[in-house]
Amino acid sequence: LADGPLKGKRILVTSGPTHEPIDPVRYIANRSSGAQGAALGRALAALGAEVVFVTGPADVPPPEGVEVERVETAREMLDAVQAALPADAAVFAAAVADWRVSSTSDRKLKKSSDGLPQLTFAENPDILRTVSEMTQGRPGLVVGFAAETNDVVDNATAKRARKGCDWIVANDVSPATGIMGGTENAVVLITDAGAEKWDRAGKDEVARKLARRIAQALG
Ligand code: C5P
Repeated sequence: LADGPLKGKRILVTSGPTHEPIDPVRYIANRSSGAQGAALGRALAALGAEVVFVTGPADVPPPEGVEVERVETAREMLDAVQAALPADAAVFAAAVADWRVSSTSDRKLKKSSDGLPQLTFAENPDILRTVSEMTQGRPGLVVGFAAETNDVVDNATAKRARKGCDWIVANDVSPATGIMGGTENAVVLITDAGAEKWDRAGKDEVARKLARRIAQALG
């Protein structure tokens, strides 16, 4: 482990999308490269943290030198998160699918003249909210992300209250920004002190800045 202000701190990071199967060959998912989560895992480890990195099937490789737990679905991610606790801080950068398919088939659905398949859905657990609401063993700092396409500060402020987390890192992912799948991010950090707009920067730089803020907050 590196030497730094986060030495002795255990930090959980979720990253990437989740995949929710429809049948053995198909799934639904959110778009997420996992780039910001991986950058954050690296930045936290570089400051000396013991990082547990819980990741769905992302496009980018996980950070090196950290404990990596690979999952596929939201329910697996929740299980892995709960198994990884306690932690001093938890950062939820994953793009978790809000719904899973409840009408899964263990055989590949076939095209047929009988018409289109009908999918039914069930709600997935909200991992960030579940951890934020823990009454025992809650991490001292719980950070959520919010991907917004409009009214970023208002929506993210409301999300912080709804989820019960300490901070929300909000980013504008409207297609014109090129942020989704790109190398840069423009974020607003929402804390109990209000909204702080950060300059647009590389995802690595945003990660380093956030890691330093986390180190300050954990003292
Ligand atoms: O509600 P929304 O998906 O916009 O919230 C985003 C934040 O909540 C992210 O930090 C994401 O990782 C987390 N989340 C979660 N479990 C879910 C949905 C979102 O942890 N089922």
